[in-house]
Parts: sequence; C-alpha cells; structure tokens
Amino acid sequence: MSTFRYWQTHRAGNMARLTLHTGNLPALADNHVRIKVHAVGLNFADIFALTGLYSATPQGAFTPGLEFAGEVLETGAQTHEFAAGDRVMGVTRFGGYTSVIDSEPDYLIPLPVEWDYAQGAAWPAQTLTAWYALTHLGALQADQQVLIHSAAGGVGLQAMKLVEALGARPTGTVGNEEKAVWLRQQGFEDILVREADFAGQLQRDKRHFDLVLDAIGGKVQTASFNALNPMGRLVVFGAAEFTPSHNRPNYLKAAWRYLRRPRYDVMEMISSNRSVLAFNLIWLWEQKGKMQALLKELEAIAQPPPHVGHRFAFKDAHEALALLRSGQSVGKVVLETAPETIKS
Ligand SMILES: NC(=O)c1ccc[n+]([C@@H]2O[C@H](COP(=O)([O-])OP(=O)(O)OC[C@H]3O[C@@H](n4cnc5c(N)ncnc54)[C@H](OP(=O)(O)O)[C@@H]3O)[C@@H](O)[C@H]2O)c1
Repeated sequence: MSTFRYWQTHRAGNMARLTLHTGNLPALADNHVRIKVHAVGLNFADIFALTGLYSATPQGAFTPGLEFAGEVLETGAQTHEFAAGDRVMGVTRFGGYTSVIDSEPDYLIPLPVEWDYAQGAAWPAQTLTAWYALTHLGALQADQQVLIHSAAGGVGLQAMKLVEALGARPTGTVGNEEKAVWLRQQGFEDILVREADFAGQLQRDKRHFDLVLDAIGGKVQTASFNALNPMGRLVVFGAAEFTPSHNRPNYLKAAWRYLRRPRYDVMEMISSNRSVLAFNLIWLWEQKGKMQALLKELEAIAQPPPHVGHRFAFKDAHEALALLRSGQSVGKVVLETAPETIKS
C-alpha cells in the first residue's frame, strides 16, 4: 500500500470546503505505528472545527477527526508495543478522517476482541469525556440524581451507562420523542423530552439534581443550574445551541447567542452552595500521562461496546456530518473505509 485517502479542508469556515484527496504515504517515523483505518468516529467538535467555531481548530488546511479504529500495518523501529495485524482504537488531535494514520503508540489502545472496528472508533473520545465529566469534575457518588442532556447522543449515551454503572440515577433529556422511546427501550426509565420552557418543565415536575452534564448551553443550561440541589455541580463541556444549521455559520445569530450566554455570579454560587465546572478534553492530547491514567480508570469498569447508530461509507463524510449536525442522530456516527459499506 503506497497511497491513502484523506479528507481535508483548506481552511475552516465552510463545511463544503471539505474534499476527498489521495496522497502518497510518507516513510514511517521510527517512533510511530502505521494503522490501516477501518472506521472513523465522528464528533460534534468536527462540525465546530470545520465551521471555524472551535477555538482549538488548526490555522489553514487541516484534516478533521479525533478518533479511529483499525489494524496495525507496520511499526517504527523504536516501537515495541504493537505488532502488524493488531486491532487497535486510537485518538488523534485532528487528522482522523483518513484511510491510513501514523500514530505514536501512546495514543493507541487494543481493540477488545468482541468489538468491531466501528465500535472501537465510537469509544475513546466520548467515553473519556463522559468519564472525566462525571467522576473527575462531577465527583459523582452512588445514589446521586444526575441530569444528562442529549442522552441519546455519543457522549450522552456513554454518560447514562456510566452513571448507572457507578450506582447513581440518570435522568436523560432529548430533543424529540423518538429518541425518548429509543432510550426507554434500552432500559433507561427517566427520560424527558425538553419543552420550549425547560425551566417551567423542571419546576412543574419538581425536579432537582446533584449533578448536571451540559453541552447545549443557553436557557437549557440556566434552567439546569437552577435545578441543582445545594452542593450540586454543573459540568459544562460544549455549546450545541451554536450549531450552524447549514455549511456556514450564521455569524449574526451566533453573536446574539454569545451575548445572551449564561453567566454565573460566584458570590451567588457561594450563597446557594452550587458550582460550575468546565473543560475541553482536547488539551489532554498534550498530557499523555494523564490521558493514559484516565484510560486505565475506564478499563476497571467493564463496559459494553458503545452504540453505533449510523454507519456511512468513508466517501460519504458530508452526508454523515449533515446527519450529526441535524441533531437527529442516535448513538455514534461512524465512517467505514471498507468499500462494501452501505448507509444505514
Ligand atoms: N469539551 C470536550 O472535551 C468535549 C468532548 C466531546 C464532546 N463535547 C461536546 O459534547 C456534545 C456532545 O458531543 P457528541 O459528539 O456526543 O454529539 P451528540 O450528542 O451525538 O450530538 C449532539 C446533540 O446535541 C443536541 N443538540 C442540542 N442543540 C442542538 C442544535 N442546535 N443543533 C444540533 N444538535 C443539537 C442534539 O441532541 P438532543 O436534541 O437530543 O439534545 C444532538 O444530537 C457536543 O456539544 C460536543 O461539542 C465536548
């Protein structure tokens, strides 16, 4: 194999700029492992990166993509952790939308034998996000009541499962009834379809929470913070309300939302004894030790494979991204490089 395929945009700002390229493989560096990528996991951050709304987006041309799964083709002279033929999943700071990737071994994890490649590509970023939010920042304890927004999404679904695995009680929210039905079929009983007046909905049902995971923002976030019990925590890690509905952002709308974003008064937080925490896990890329430690913690919790809701052929990245951007996807959206892949 001397060539590979990859998606690239010459600059952020318009998702339509993302195009498929063929390139020649460079020589493999001594400290890298070369992987034939079978599946690429899509993340909401890909949309924000492509539209230029994500602070971590590289300047100029870049290939999106934060996670993948595949088979080791070759190992550099100085790497001994993996061998050709090993099945792995991995994370990357951009560059994941590719059919071949060179990675340092520190960013790779063996793929569990009973998982397929799509499940592997669906696991690292979103599970680490859910875990870090719940345990490191959320300090979750057994029996606590936890509100998880976008509970049928990639991070949300992993968070719902982890909350249960840790002996606490998840309440999930979703944007439509179909997702609520689906979640209940998976065994999650307490699911709310968010109403336009979400604050009123929580007050009407006398809902209170010890921990909230929010990546939507706006009024949903404010209402969630107001429903926290004393000593409760709001963990924020995204702002899906800024999602552009087309390939390019509507900057006027985004500016309006930005001006009306929730703001917190620390003096009031002392009085009401509730706190707000926030993070972006992409910075973990530079902190290999911390990332490895988090992965070890997750290993200790035997987890079922993540739910892959939608599989697209590698060439159909635009369709896959449009589905994710629409807010209608359930579980993980994955691109598969095998030519026989059919859309589902
Ligand atoms: N900070 C970090 O380190 C980090 C890491 C990973 C992910 N994230 C954030 O976590 C969130 C979830 O990521 P994900 O990849 O797992 O995505 P996802 O949850 O699978 O999909 C995003 C979901 O957001 C909800 N949503 C709310 N308002 C929306 C809008 N205006 N347009 C479209 N969707 C909207 C939709 O679900 P409902 O309508 O059912 O709520 C949608 O399905 C994203 O905001 C992402 O940026 C942050």
